[in-house]
Amino acid sequence: MIECRNVSFAYEPGQKALDGVTFRVGPGEAVGLIGANGAGKSTLMKALLGLIECEGEILVDGRRVEKRTLADIRRRLGFVMQDSDDQMFMPTVYEDMLFGPMNYGLSREKAEARADAALERLGLQALRHRHNHRLSGGEKRMAAIATILAMEPAALLMDEPTSALDPYNRRRVIEIVRGLPQTRLIASHDLDMILDTCDRVLLLSGGRVAADGPADVLLRDRALLEAHRLELPLSLAGR
Ligand SMILES: Nc1ncnc2c1ncn2[C@@H]1O[C@H](COP(=O)(O)OP(=O)(O)OP(=O)(O)O)[C@@H](O)[C@H]1O
Ligand SMILES: [Mg+2]
Repeated sequence: MIECRNVSFAYEPGQKALDGVTFRVGPGEAVGLIGANGAGKSTLMKALLGLIECEGEILVDGRRVEKRTLADIRRRLGFVMQDSDDQMFMPTVYEDMLFGPMNYGLSREKAEARADAALERLGLQALRHRHNHRLSGGEKRMAAIATILAMEPAALLMDEPTSALDPYNRRRVIEIVRGLPQTRLIASHDLDMILDTCDRVLLLSGGRVAADGPADVLLRDRALLEAHRLELPLSLAGR
């Protein structure tokens, strides 16, 4: 479903933010992307969306990510970016949620049914007609998640989906993400959330894949995590 072959990228000449990244994520798999600040997680997400031009090869659903295929690929990938202000086009939460599905050919009626279902699932009915730029940080994050659920994409890329969420909303998002049938790639420092939602973990360090394996093995490996400036998830820290 998602495949990177020897992907490299540098924002500044000589400073590689991604350095020979290779991995593949199968259909329906949930993979956590972890790593210290600056490890390259958001850069990898941008690469998968075709927002930056990399060396190497990236395939999404069998299609190579390149200028020619971008529109098609973005329709297959729902994404929550680290800064949700970057991904809102329309003034209100509801209009923003209708924009994607209608842009891809759904009738207004069908798009509204999807948007209503997503708002209800996340308990966000009260935000429906609110202005995006007048929402709190956590409300914006929840609205961005509702928007991609309404799109029903083939795969989801989520960059820090639980940052800024209160414990109740965080738990709600975890339950929903865990139950989704789609392929999911989730970048986060919330390793408890990764443990709850992902079967597999990719550890990035200095733009390279430092480890790739089962979540309940890698997230228990204190030496590995600490070597890459991470810590055991609280639920495994054994107080
Ligand atoms: N727009 C940019 N211009 C120049 N360098 C950048 C830019 N964005 C990121 N970088 C650099 O690229 C490297 C990878 O950054 P990236 O944002 O991918 O890290 P990250 O793993 O998402 O970190 P965080 O956990 O802080 O979100 C870092 O060294 C960062 O300073
Ligand atoms: Mg980031």
